[in-house]
Amino acid sequence: MKILVTGGLGFIGSHTVVELQNEGFEVVIIDDLSNSSIEVVDGITAITNKKPIFEKLDLKVKLDVQDFFKRHNDIIGVIHFAASKAVGESVAEPLMYYENNITTLVYMLQELCGLTKKNFIFSSSCTVYGQADELPITENAPIKPAESPYGNTKQIGEEIIRDTCKVNSDVNAIALRYFNPIGAHPSTEIGELPIGVPQNLVPYITQTGIGMREQLSVFGGDYPTSDGTCIRDYIHVVDLAKAHVIALQRLIAGNNDSNFEYFNLGTGTGSTVLEAIQSFERVSGKALNYKIVDRREGDITAAYAETSKANNVLGWKTELTLDDAMDSAWKWEQKIRNK
Ligand code: UFG
Repeated sequence: MKILVTGGLGFIGSHTVVELQNEGFEVVIIDDLSNSSIEVVDGITAITNKKPIFEKLDLKVKLDVQDFFKRHNDIIGVIHFAASKAVGESVAEPLMYYENNITTLVYMLQELCGLTKKNFIFSSSCTVYGQADELPITENAPIKPAESPYGNTKQIGEEIIRDTCKVNSDVNAIALRYFNPIGAHPSTEIGELPIGVPQNLVPYITQTGIGMREQLSVFGGDYPTSDGTCIRDYIHVVDLAKAHVIALQRLIAGNNDSNFEYFNLGTGTGSTVLEAIQSFERVSGKALNYKIVDRREGDITAAYAETSKANNVLGWKTELTLDDAMDSAWKWEQKIRNK
């Protein structure tokens, strides 16, 4: 029952490790600590009463990856989160993104092929759809040319896995296409730890709420939506984490319909930026200082998931609301700043 979680100290990775341990899996985490903290191990341990095995390892070093798999050849599943994820940074440093996200994926798959059990879950993104022509977005929506090197690494990543599965019928893989993951564990033991100025909406909201940032800039008030601001499908990270465990169990049980599957992971409900702000104000009881400014380059107008494939085939659906997610994000922000 040993599962490897790469990037297991990151935001989504750490929440997934908790859910895996809650389900009785033995977890080995690989993380290079480039965008995470070793203290996350303590948070996971506090929630689950079980300390995961942790190895600090750079997946770009092929020899180290090979050595790791030699020592852990009893792994029955790999959940591969380790990747860089900042859209703007990827535009400035494309080669770093291709090395971090593509080279490491190739090494992982090469080693996976040498295991007895070859089950693989890949962190993909709704970014593969770009601005979809129809909403909600189904898994059959066309893959649009990527808007950024980061987005491209997710598209190429899926293609690499698809090609690998074509010629290796004993490799079983699922790509999970996340919409907008937000929130924190309700225990406030783990959550999101953005380095520097947050690029994403919810950490920016909570940092503004706590006084670290003066004002939230709402990027664009003239989109063709109900209130003029962009629409996204904000999904609680705990719901998202649980989907990984279900997807993995599907592969372990051999219940997959083909050896490469992909699913949208979202709530199915779109919220505007102003609705997200209202949610924050509701759960925190605070008025948020914000201002509508120009559009941000590269933003799409609206994206939210058609969830019936995940609901019916995976047997998973979200249980938590936007307010639950915002409440947990706010409690987490207060905890880390008051430390
Ligand atoms: N927003 C603001 N102000 C901010 C930050 C964001 O108004 O300070 C708005 C954005 O314009 C957007 C919404 O809040 O309308 C959500 O923005 P995020 O940056 O939180 O999320 P994105 O939808 O832009 O990004 C997500 C993932 C990326 C992925 C991208 C693909 O975080 O990994 O979707 O579209 F690449």
